[in-house]
Amino acid sequence: MAATGYDLLMNSDYADLNPALGTLYAEHIGIVAARHDHALEQAGASHAVIYSGNPKNAFLDDYQMPFKPNPHFVNWVPLTRLPFSYIVYTPGKTPILIYYQPHDYWHVVPGAPDGYWTSTFDIRIVHSVDDIARHLPADREKCIVIGEIDDDALSFGIERVNPTTAVNILHYARGAKTQYEIEIMRLASRRGASGHVAAETAFRNGRSEFDIHRAYCEAVSHTDQELPYGNIVALNEHGAVLHYTDLDRQPPAESRSFLIDAGAQVHGYASDITRTHSNGDVRFQALIERMETMQLDIVNQVSAGIDYRDLHVGTHKMLASVLVDAELAAGDPDTLLETGVTSAFFPHGLGHLLGIQVHDVGGFMENESGTTIDPPSGHPFLRMTRILEEDMVLTIEPGLYAIDMLLENLRGTPAESHVNWNTVDWLRPFGGIRIEDNIRVLASDRENLTRDAFAQL
Ligand code: GLY
Ligand code: MN
Ligand code: MN
Repeated sequence: MAATGYDLLMNSDYADLNPALGTLYAEHIGIVAARHDHALEQAGASHAVIYSGNPKNAFLDDYQMPFKPNPHFVNWVPLTRLPFSYIVYTPGKTPILIYYQPHDYWHVVPGAPDGYWTSTFDIRIVHSVDDIARHLPADREKCIVIGEIDDDALSFGIERVNPTTAVNILHYARGAKTQYEIEIMRLASRRGASGHVAAETAFRNGRSEFDIHRAYCEAVSHTDQELPYGNIVALNEHGAVLHYTDLDRQPPAESRSFLIDAGAQVHGYASDITRTHSNGDVRFQALIERMETMQLDIVNQVSAGIDYRDLHVGTHKMLASVLVDAELAAGDPDTLLETGVTSAFFPHGLGHLLGIQVHDVGGFMENESGTTIDPPSGHPFLRMTRILEEDMVLTIEPGLYAIDMLLENLRGTPAESHVNWNTVDWLRPFGGIRIEDNIRVLASDRENLTRDAFAQL
């Protein structure tokens, strides 16, 4: 039987799914190369040597922790399992990929280079770390290394490791995605959405958090290690623990609510999706729908030129109305903001840049020289303070939770009288609500990668 679109999504090298990927990749490399031209010039260097990284052993152990590749390496090449490898970029020349393929009978070694990306590189296969040095530029003093070097031998005499000038330029530029990256992230969104559907079904069947997690992993065809971040699979009160990753093995006596924050990756690029479900409780369902309306209202404000800090503070004002309508709080929005009521119910940032890293680099950068923009006062957990630019991809993820630790802090303050504590008691067994979409910024519009992905399933 011919593979369906879904099977291709899980099993192909993705060029089968989108034959234009090779062309998009070539354009992407042109942009990445130009960024490196600029970074090298500003850093006064002639060659960038980008190290993929190496696995690390657990303390006092000979077992390795999961390998996380250098995001700068993944930015060049869609290879996430290629330790001890290097890209050598010299402006105007074909980039060299030093492809480490060890003689190793303990592990699976990387196969022969294959795929649409191979024609971009002058590929040099090496079987030993000792073979790497001869493929590096002879003028080491004109090189910079970008990567995590935890053993001096792996920088092969290059002394300038991660120079700030160059790294800032590259990090700032990565805020806006190339068309190739956006297409890869659309695929990562589709992959994640398929997992969310499977997880919701498992929840509705009364399964445990552990089983729901397994249903998710099966649907997206990821091992735990391949997930872009640890799944948050939270039933009932657990939804109020922002980064809940415990995964109870037994189902609760009653599954009232389900908050799932789970993504997927394609070629090292992530999706980051949250949905909240009610299992029949009409009042909680209505609150989810109210939050979803609010979330979509915020999404609809996304476009180039918008200050993300304003979106975050504006969310608090909108949330104040939700709290009042839900009888969780009373008062005008400004008072609920100033007294800290909205922050107690919504104590994290509205979202963040998304890309190779789930919390992608550069969210605080004002410019490529590394000046940063602080979060608004009173909002220390906001991870994105930049003005929105076309083709940035970011999350919009407002939440509303019953977190006793934070709400109790309001006692004895002017906020106390604004909280309807009886309604907090009602909300507590449901944990909380978060709804998170991944949004591409357009000039005067936006693309909702997440909603589009669900619609395509
Ligand atoms: N999944 C982590 C976050 O939403 O930021
Ligand atoms: Mn998330
Ligand atoms: Mn997120």
